Amino acid sequence: MKRPTLGTIVMGVVGFVILIWLLGIVVYPAENPSGIYTGKIISTASDSILRRACFDCHSNETNFPWYYHLPFVRIKMGHSINEGREELNFSHWEQTSPSRRRKIFRESLEYMDKGEMPPTDYTFFHPDAKLSKEDITQIRQDILQAQSDGSIGVQSSGNNGDDDDEKEEHDKD
Ligand code: HEC
Repeated sequence: MKRPTLGTIVMGVVGFVILIWLLGIVVYPAENPSGIYTGKIISTASDSILRRACFDCHSNETNFPWYYHLPFVRIKMGHSINEGREELNFSHWEQTSPSRRRKIFRESLEYMDKGEMPPTDYTFFHPDAKLSKEDITQIRQDILQAQSDGSIGVQSSGNNGDDDDEKEEHDKD
């Protein structure tokens, strides 16, 4: 068998990178789906924290940075954005049922406390999205407040473990 020349190897690598780049472009668009939500989620203060720390992956208002367009990066980021939106999309808040909202709040607080949301590979590139202890406290207090006055369509309920039956409620639009 003939040994590949340096030229062939370089061409192969370049071809591979181009292929990955094209694949990213085809599979992961750099545009937001239509439909946003402009109403209240928790409170003005908490909503602006969510907007800053969560909306890139959990809304139809993603800001795509310039490096999104690079090969490999696009596939990695596009995949997280798709998955994130599938699990939780604040742009579909209006269609989200009270029990689902309650579950989202409960899980979000849990993830934020553990430092799992926003993900650290994301905050590495978006330090401004990092949450401080105060941010989390603010969100926690505002959720409790809004639950007790019923202003977010969610009442606080003693039984907080059994909303899971209404699990995958996929928004239809
Ligand atoms: C870089 C993208 C990204 C950011 C930013 C982000 N998330 Fe996520 N989130 C994901 C992905 C991907 C998943 C689904 C996979 C998983 O659970 O790890 C997810 C899952 C979740 C879930 C689970 C939903 C369910 O029904 O199981 C909750 C709740 C959540 N995120 C809350 C948040 C909150 C709150 C913030 C902001 C403080 C946030 N996320 C920021 C990517 C992100």
